Amino acid sequence: MTQMSSQSDVPGMGRRQFMNFLTFGACTGVALGALYPVVKYFIPPSAGGGGSGITAKDALGNDVVASEFLGEHNAGDRVLTQGFKGDPTYVIVEDSGELANYGLNAVCTHLGCVVPWNAGADKFICPCHGSQYNKEGKVVRGPAPLSLALVHLEVQDDKVTFQKWDETDFRTGKEPWWT
Ligand code: FES
Repeated sequence: MTQMSSQSDVPGMGRRQFMNFLTFGACTGVALGALYPVVKYFIPPSAGGGGSGITAKDALGNDVVASEFLGEHNAGDRVLTQGFKGDPTYVIVEDSGELANYGLNAVCTHLGCVVPWNAGADKFICPCHGSQYNKEGKVVRGPAPLSLALVHLEVQDDKVTFQKWDETDFRTGKEPWWT
C-alpha cells in the first residue's frame, strides 16, 4: 500500500518538475530575447577590419600584394583594383610613398561611368559628362552630385584589403551617402 502510494507520487512530482522546468525555460528565453537588443546596443560596432573586409584583386583576379604593389607603383599613383561586389576601386600611393588608408570607388556618382585618374590635372575626370573629383575623390565639378564612395584600406599579411566605410566622410564632414 505504501509502495503504491509512493509509486503514484513519483509521476506527479515528475510532472510538476517538468512544468517548472518549462516555465523556467520559457521565462529565461523571453528574458534573454528581451535583453539581446539591449546588450547589442552597448557593444560598439567594429571599427573596420576584424575579418569583415575583402582582399583587393588585380585585373587578373589575383590578390593585391602590398609589397609588390608598392614596388611597381610610384608616389601619387591611383591604381584600379576590384573591390566590394567587383566595383572598380582605386588604391592610392600617397606622396610619402605609403599606401593611403582609404580606397575610392571609381563609379561616377552621376550615371555610373568608371572615372579615370588624370595625373596631369591631378584629378579624376569622368569621360562621360565631364564631372571632376579631386585627388581624394571629392566632387569639385558636376553634374556628379556626390563624391566618390570611400572604403577603408588595410594591409593584412601583406595583402591589400578593403573594409566598409560607415563613418563620417572626412572630405565633407557629412555622413556617408553610400551606406
Ligand atoms: Fe560621370 Fe556623367 S557619368 S559625369
